[in-house]
Amino acid sequence: QNNAAVTFTDPGTGIVFNSWGIANGAAQTQGGYTFGMALPSNALSTDATEFIGYLQCAAKDNKGWCGVSLGGPMTNSLLVAAWPNEDNIYTSLRYATGYAMPDPYTGDAKITQVSSTINSTHFTLVFRCQNCLKWNQAGTSGGASTSAGFLVLGWVQAFPSPGNPTCPSQITLEQHDNGMGIWGAVLDSNVANPSYTAWAAKATKTVA
Ligand code: HEM
Repeated sequence: QNNAAVTFTDPGTGIVFNSWGIANGAAQTQGGYTFGMALPSNALSTDATEFIGYLQCAAKDNKGWCGVSLGGPMTNSLLVAAWPNEDNIYTSLRYATGYAMPDPYTGDAKITQVSSTINSTHFTLVFRCQNCLKWNQAGTSGGASTSAGFLVLGWVQAFPSPGNPTCPSQITLEQHDNGMGIWGAVLDSNVANPSYTAWAAKATKTVA
């Protein structure tokens, strides 16, 4: 996994992301994994509370799920899980205090979607995550500071689909079986963009 960000422009939305990934064909995970982030224009000097995320994950014939930990470890971090089902990509915000099925996150974070695409090998989601960079679950708080210019993030990927896939608050998961890890994500100036507000306004779709 790269630490220095790779900047790319998502062709479907025109959104510019800093990204970090594992190549398709690498040993750590089958199918590859990419997470990208775009931030408000002042995020490198003032901590942002939200971001636009990009997740491209492996899903063979619409099966599988992946996620990102916004704090690095699985535990005590806000977790985003995502999976395809038929023509939609569903998400669930989760929080775990141990290495077992994470609970639904009870804070006020919110995901809305800019775009989603699914093909026979991968799914790709561009999503806005509001109130996602500070979290509080039953009094335990944490967060990720964008002004530090450096985030600790975690990735995870799995082959089977969640149970109850069309009901994000009630999914069931097996322990992930297609790799996981923690990486240091260095932000560069391309992550903070004056167009952020316009891009965020495109996140009008809720899949729940
Ligand atoms: C790591 C279990 C769901 C993210 C781990 C580890 C276990 C585990 C045992 C440590 C494995 C090792 O070090 O070899 C589970 C179980 C789950 C579950 C039983 C559900 C039934 C999730 C979800 C996410 C997630 C939903 C995020 C969306 C991670 C990450 C790591 C990890 C990022 C690597 C970082 C770390 O070790 O803390 N998980 N997990 N897990 N898990 Fe999960």
